[in-house]
Amino acid sequence: MNTIISKDIDAAVAHLSNDDVVAIPTETVYGLAANALIPSAVAKIFEAKNRPTFNPLIVHCASWDEAKKYVEIIPEKLQILITAFSPGPITFLLKKNNLIPDIVTAGSDYVAIRIPNHPTALSLLQKINFPIAAPSANQFGYISPTTAQHVLDSLNGKIPFILDGSSATVGLESTIVGMAENNQIIVYRLGSITVEQIQSVTNESVIIKNKKEENPTTAGQLKSHYAPNTKLLIGDINKLVLQHQNKNIYSINFINIFDCLPTNHQFVLSKKANLAEAAQNLFSVLRKIDGLGADLILAEKFPDEGIGMAINDRLERASAIK
Ligand code: TXA
Ligand code: MG
Repeated sequence: MNTIISKDIDAAVAHLSNDDVVAIPTETVYGLAANALIPSAVAKIFEAKNRPTFNPLIVHCASWDEAKKYVEIIPEKLQILITAFSPGPITFLLKKNNLIPDIVTAGSDYVAIRIPNHPTALSLLQKINFPIAAPSANQFGYISPTTAQHVLDSLNGKIPFILDGSSATVGLESTIVGMAENNQIIVYRLGSITVEQIQSVTNESVIIKNKKEENPTTAGQLKSHYAPNTKLLIGDINKLVLQHQNKNIYSINFINIFDCLPTNHQFVLSKKANLAEAAQNLFSVLRKIDGLGADLILAEKFPDEGIGMAINDRLERASAIK
């Protein structure tokens, strides 16, 4: 199969309307999309990504008016979060109705719904009359793509079309939230909508269930996920370099360059010490280093607050042994 990269939204619409898969840009990461209402179209996503079918997909809609057609109710506290942060990099686990096929939710009664805040994604969604299921557009287990070229690197020849919408501005997958039986908000995956922001608009503490389990039953909890092929260690760069002499080492630093490694072996994610900028750069730097033939990647631990929590989460997943 020949894979085309193009900015032609109507061509992407034609592929989707034909029950085919298309990679689409969003503000978080690129997604691999298909008509969420047609099981045979959704099956093509699992096939192209090599993704196990027990791992459910996020459904993307043009608006909440649209999304409401597919869910039973929206609990009041989640509605507060929708009003505050959506469209945007946040996904909601909601009780589904029977319009959403089981293949999308891996048999669960809950469907994950997101309204992306990206001009190309929104105009695509407005041109079709069905929602699209879309996981990140990478081979299962690898680092999520933040550019059309990243998608091509992973899925060339496996999908017909990549809709180019420039580099993702957020750069980390969406925050995933749901509701516990006791009415408390649960954060299932950390993202750029932070725990602090969620607590501040709801005036309540949240439960974080962002565990990386071997056999996940819910959202984003596979241990080795988002992982480069090169081994990655997190910690104090100076100490780690001393412990790994004679190795070809590259590092991922937050703000500064260190003396213990050649400058051209170091990638600084944000000279301005801005966590959002660091998040935006993280996955492309991980991919770049993974292509340099390094023996080892060393990453600093980021401040464990705000978006730093999500960056640390992705680094920990990247360091998990496959
Ligand atoms: O930012 C994002 O969320 C990107 C863009 C494309 O929207 N998508 C994304 O999809 O990261 P994916 O498949 O790589 O991660 C979605 C996570 C999965 O880990 C899955 O387990 C969880 O959401 N999920 C989806 N539907 C679920 C459901 N019904 N119940 C529990 N978890 C669910
Ligand atoms: Mg993914």
